[in-house]
Amino acid sequence: MDKTRRAFLGVSAATAAHVWIPKPVKGYTAADLMPPAVAGEMRSGEPVKPMKAGIAKSELDTPALCVDLDKLERNIAKMQRTANANKIGVRPHAKTHKCAAIAKLQMAAGAIGICAAKLSEAEALLENGVDKILMTTSNLPPAKIRRAMQLKKRFPGFVQAVDFDQNARDLNDAAKEAGVVADVVIDVAVGTRTGIPPGEDAIKLAQLVDKSPSLKLRGLLSYDGGAQHITGFATRKERALASIEENARTREKMHAAGLNTEIFSGGGTGTYNIYHLVPGFTDVQAGSYIFMDMQYVAIGNADGQPIYDDFEPSLTVLATVVNNRFPGRLTTDAGAKALTLNVPHAGVIGEPDMDYNAGSDEFGSLTFKEARKAWKMGDRMEVIVPHCDPVVNLYDFIYGIRNDRVETVWPITARGHSQ
Ligand SMILES: Cc1ncc(COP(=O)(O)O)c(C=O)c1O
Repeated sequence: MDKTRRAFLGVSAATAAHVWIPKPVKGYTAADLMPPAVAGEMRSGEPVKPMKAGIAKSELDTPALCVDLDKLERNIAKMQRTANANKIGVRPHAKTHKCAAIAKLQMAAGAIGICAAKLSEAEALLENGVDKILMTTSNLPPAKIRRAMQLKKRFPGFVQAVDFDQNARDLNDAAKEAGVVADVVIDVAVGTRTGIPPGEDAIKLAQLVDKSPSLKLRGLLSYDGGAQHITGFATRKERALASIEENARTREKMHAAGLNTEIFSGGGTGTYNIYHLVPGFTDVQAGSYIFMDMQYVAIGNADGQPIYDDFEPSLTVLATVVNNRFPGRLTTDAGAKALTLNVPHAGVIGEPDMDYNAGSDEFGSLTFKEARKAWKMGDRMEVIVPHCDPVVNLYDFIYGIRNDRVETVWPITARGHSQ
């Protein structure tokens, strides 16, 4: 994808030009930008207005996780508009942003709820004002199931996935003990990751849930992780529709058997405009579309172009050049602890021919034949991240940027909540 990658990263240079101006920078931290009282409550989902208005992005201490608010808002609006046109709902996955403030923007735009991957993630979001959470993973240990039901007691909008019969029985016991009726969806596998295989076993599990007195069957999930990043829209569409066929048949049989299928949720950023073609499908659980990353950029768009441009890359990491002494090489202050070891490598905005290897813990190692500008030590560099979800999980805050100024600072509410 070299030529188009060059155009993609090169064009963005115009918008990032300001960060190249080599001058001493203040190096504002998140704590500098918010009132001390708020800094002490950083897990709150409320956006924090910077104390000092109009701080330039280039003045931030680095590595800094930034989101371009205009792009973020356009991405949210486009997903909602597309789903509305296709007559399905959006239930965005919060595993991407882990941020109550962003979940609230998605809800305000029309999302029917928010997904969470882990119980601690669901807890953090519910406690910070996101009131409709569907947990897409089943909880295994009974102690955790009991914790989930304590959550349900406090937050009625909590829905829990289940994917095997003992798990459903344990959940029924925990719900009874907590004095609640648990809303349950059956996780039906597409592929081999999690979930019960489609077919008779899945229907039996749905029947078990349906007749359990402390459980209320709400429907099913079918997420196909393997389909999201298939290169080329036509191939992706064909494969995604083929691999969910058996799940769709299972849903039909559940429905015919009088079982509730009001939720039939799945899909992600690579398939958000495909699954409405699946009979009975109700909502798309896309996550990455709000931020995008180098993994998604590479999958190609519906016009056959190699760059996936349905959504704009709003998420960047701002880094500082800390060494320019060696020809064909630069070192930055953003390594694996700022960008993860994921592939493909981060894309340098304005320098499409540079390879950014984040292999060192604290340092990024860049190699190139020719740079488009003479990089000096202390210069700011902005990169599109390899894969958004794990990168966000490395930061306490995300800076909301508009017109290259810090407009807001959001705590990553469920940062590190991986249990
Ligand atoms: C169950 C589930 N739903 C939705 C998503 C969101 O997918 P994407 O980030 O590709 O939009 C994921 C991502 O891994 C997932 O695991």
